[in-house]
Amino acid sequence: MSEVLEVKLHDDAKAPQGQVSIRDLIGRMTLEEKIGQLQQLDASAPDLEETIRTGRVGSVINQADPGKVRELQRIAVEESRLGIPLLIGRDVIHGFHTIMPIPLGQAASWNPVLVEECARVAAEEAAQHGVNWTFAPMIDISRDARWGRIAESFGEDPVLTSVLGAAMIKGLQGERLDGAFSIAACAKHFAGYGTSEAGRDYDTTNIPENELRNIYLPPFKAALDAGVATFMSSFGDLDGVPASANEFLMRDILRDEWGFEGFVVSDWDSIRQLKTHGIAEDYREAAQLAAMAGIDMEMAGDAYAENLGSLVESGVIDLSAVDSMVENILQIKLSLGLFESVDRAEKATNVTSHADKMKLAKEAALESVVLLQNRANAQNRANAQNRANALPLSRDALKSLAVIGPMADQPYEQLGTWIFDGDEARSVTPLNAIKDYVGDDIEVRFAPAMQSTRSKTEDGFAAALDAASSCDAIIAFLGEESILSGEAHSRADINLPGNQAALIRELKKAGKPLIVVVLAGRPLTIGDILEEADAVLFAWHPGVMAGPAISDLLFGVVSPSGRLPVSFPKVVGQIPIYYNHKNTGRPACRDTVVHIDDIAVGARQTSFGMTAFHLDAGFEPQFPFGYGLSYSEFAYENLQISRDALPVGGVLDVRVTVSNNGTCTAYETVQLYVRDLVGSVTRPVKELKDFRKVHLQAGESKDIVFQLHTDQLAFFGRSKAFRVEPGTFHLWVGPNSRDGLQTEFRVI
Ligand code: NOJ
Repeated sequence: MSEVLEVKLHDDAKAPQGQVSIRDLIGRMTLEEKIGQLQQLDASAPDLEETIRTGRVGSVINQADPGKVRELQRIAVEESRLGIPLLIGRDVIHGFHTIMPIPLGQAASWNPVLVEECARVAAEEAAQHGVNWTFAPMIDISRDARWGRIAESFGEDPVLTSVLGAAMIKGLQGERLDGAFSIAACAKHFAGYGTSEAGRDYDTTNIPENELRNIYLPPFKAALDAGVATFMSSFGDLDGVPASANEFLMRDILRDEWGFEGFVVSDWDSIRQLKTHGIAEDYREAAQLAAMAGIDMEMAGDAYAENLGSLVESGVIDLSAVDSMVENILQIKLSLGLFESVDRAEKATNVTSHADKMKLAKEAALESVVLLQNRANAQNRANAQNRANALPLSRDALKSLAVIGPMADQPYEQLGTWIFDGDEARSVTPLNAIKDYVGDDIEVRFAPAMQSTRSKTEDGFAAALDAASSCDAIIAFLGEESILSGEAHSRADINLPGNQAALIRELKKAGKPLIVVVLAGRPLTIGDILEEADAVLFAWHPGVMAGPAISDLLFGVVSPSGRLPVSFPKVVGQIPIYYNHKNTGRPACRDTVVHIDDIAVGARQTSFGMTAFHLDAGFEPQFPFGYGLSYSEFAYENLQISRDALPVGGVLDVRVTVSNNGTCTAYETVQLYVRDLVGSVTRPVKELKDFRKVHLQAGESKDIVFQLHTDQLAFFGRSKAFRVEPGTFHLWVGPNSRDGLQTEFRVI
């Protein structure tokens, strides 16, 4: 644990001014004051101020009113016996006032710099409100689109999640934790929460150790390496031991193997929930299990406050264990500079301007939107002179535009889940942005068609079809309101809700180019929409600047560059479906599945016998991980590796030429995958190892060079340790997890 650390105390009478160590401070604390540091209370807790005054609170959650925070800190610092400042915790998940795309949308940018910048702005705004700790990033690998919290995740891949999680931590915590706008981050939810059964939030999780180590834990290790200050335990029950009592996770891995020196907070009341899980007889035993497992702070419950004292006094828990929990927490308060000043942000002058924040929000939204489909509409397809794709729209060619749908003009809904402090007034909706962009040149006819995405009536369809029929092109804004994703908002059916599919069929009757923009918190099953629509942009919940970003993409001011951070299933029954699956003993492939009219109806006999797929959905997702179209076209050529045989510890240079053969400037995300053909445990058919987002002018080519270290090929195998196992590897570089140039090398 930490060395003896210097802190300044504020209470002249009881704790002399000057440099003292945290251990000295702990030495002066009563047991009650120590337990107080382990307690996080909600801002609405009764008698909060008096509880702070008497030193029985270490942290307050859900208070982001600067005046109220100031007063709570004043009481803690000036009126409590030892003057220990408070941690003020708040969920700042994808922006504070200025809401950026949901994390899943940010993940689609594949741009760690952008993710870091968004987090920086969020931290600045939060810090200005007295918040000094947030519960982000959520780095739970999410393979189940039914789970509402997939919106808060960076998707299904351990490497992408690790890179973006580390970027978010850097943005939140800044260069130093005691910077004016730095707030402590929290890697959550340790661990495995994203696998809750059937996507039902809070449900059971069972993850074999090799899967846990190879898929679910790497982002947490990366967070630790990025210097994350805190971890949060998951609500989930992992292999029979709920995370808040899971010594294997919290002690064996987090502390002993990884050497984590920050502190661990429980999730909301998850210590008392150990009783509900049926692993503790009562709250006393729950407190005992959590403390022994290594949960330092209790969020919102009172199992510690009520029971730790007697557990120590009766010798069940050693006082030194409590001291060490307190030390972990005080150390973070010290690193945040709270003993020096609790309101550094208020005094700072180099603040980000509103215009710069909105510019960043627009850039983030621009880079998060994924173009899933783009083709000429039926009329154009028949027209040899003009087979232009539906997108981008031509401002010059259009005289009128129908903007339809329940998500076209929803300033609140475009922000997505977890926006406690979000300022809806900053939102620019697609409808307003499009009108603004086209001015008087193009007539815009708006018809929402449905009251919400969940409406089941067709009352608004006639007006929508009327608008659609009278215009040159149709843009339909569909999807899900923000309430349909997020915590405890899982869905069993991930089709477009309500009557939206019927609306699209109705609009199709107009015979005009039909563009669908989906705003949603998760992947949706949109096969039927793909049949009707000429172009589909998947925008997630893009945040305040949804409108200007989408408008720029529709009109080709910017080419779409988002790439899917998660596989899109065709039907919900395919879940879980993810690109880095195992090969199985009977793998399905295009040659083994027999199709009639595009429907898989059976399997060809192979040397394996039958193969693994669904009769009614095949074996492929609707769209693979990493997928996304552009208005330009990219070619991959000359894949070269620096050697065929690579010694353990060596580095392989991987070089490829990527050319923009289209007519517009655009981003391409170059993705490097490998497959370890034979391992001591079965290995995924592909694993992302690296990626590079490159900006290419029309006609421009670039050589992209990756350096692949053999460390990146290590996995947790039968030896129960991370090792690189010699053997043959396939390697691909390409635009997504399905396509690309291939070569191979050996590790010797
Ligand atoms: C419960 C959620 O699971 C967690 O992610 C969040 O940070 C806390 N509540 C605090 O709001």
